[in-house]
Amino acid sequence: MIDFQKVIEHIRTEVTVIEDKGTVATYIPELAKVPIDKFGMALVDQYGKTHITGDGEERFSIQSISKVLSLAMAFAIKGEELWQRVDVEPSGDPFNDLSLLENENGIPRNPLINAGAIVICDVLITELDNPREEILQYIREIANDPTINYNLDVARSEKATGFRNYAAANLIKSFGNLHNTVGEVLDLYFDLCAIEMSCRQLSHAFYPLMNLGKCLRGNQYLTIPQVKRMNAIMLTCGFYDEAGEFAFEIGLPGKSGVGGGIVALLPNEFCVATWSPGLNEKGNSRLGMIALEKLTTNTGLSIF
Ligand code: DON
Repeated sequence: MIDFQKVIEHIRTEVTVIEDKGTVATYIPELAKVPIDKFGMALVDQYGKTHITGDGEERFSIQSISKVLSLAMAFAIKGEELWQRVDVEPSGDPFNDLSLLENENGIPRNPLINAGAIVICDVLITELDNPREEILQYIREIANDPTINYNLDVARSEKATGFRNYAAANLIKSFGNLHNTVGEVLDLYFDLCAIEMSCRQLSHAFYPLMNLGKCLRGNQYLTIPQVKRMNAIMLTCGFYDEAGEFAFEIGLPGKSGVGGGIVALLPNEFCVATWSPGLNEKGNSRLGMIALEKLTTNTGLSIF
């Protein structure tokens, strides 16, 4: 049996000495304050045992990783009908690209680029009585942690600088694919990006996607066919224009955020989260990618 604790500790000692740690995102001013030298990792195995190293308990802004959690909730509610509002093709473009929206009549390429996540927020606003509270509650329940919360300073900071997201939402609205107001939808979108979680909490929140839809407590959140679809979307769309590179280097479905977090999983084996705030030129955590490459290469465990 693999000693995952030993494996991730060894990886931490190897990656934290790398000098080029990438660059902390500055386009959301609040994120620019995070120290570059943070590194955390958490891995929960198929038996439900969690292994932690470095800053794996420290909370950070999950940013686009929230797109998977809101998608899971919307998919569980709407089922296959959801795909009439958003496609499932990789974009091969940066996360905030607008040109495809114009060419494809306001149907976002996939739910993990900004435009797609904005449509998912619109769906949840229509479906839920108190979307902001209910989505947070949903995440707290899956992760079995009532302390998970929004960071309102980060949400405000992003709202003040979110011009491209307003442009995307307005474009979607002009094509009739947004049923609520642009302001209402983006307020929810910014709040979800501003959720703070640790690597430990993220690895637990994504556990159902590696465990046939069931969380660590055994509650079913998604059906087995839905889990298949979620993981396929993460594999092909979770890293924007670096999705091919992530599949090539790491070989797992996963999702990144500009706060420097990455979550990835091997169905029926493990779910892993890394955090290092320095990003590469594609906006994905530089050390996180290196750490995950070492994890799958050193253990021989990947979907390929
Ligand atoms: O919409 C934005 O720009 C951010 N709140 C989220 C971007 C993000 O995390 C993209 N991921 N890598």
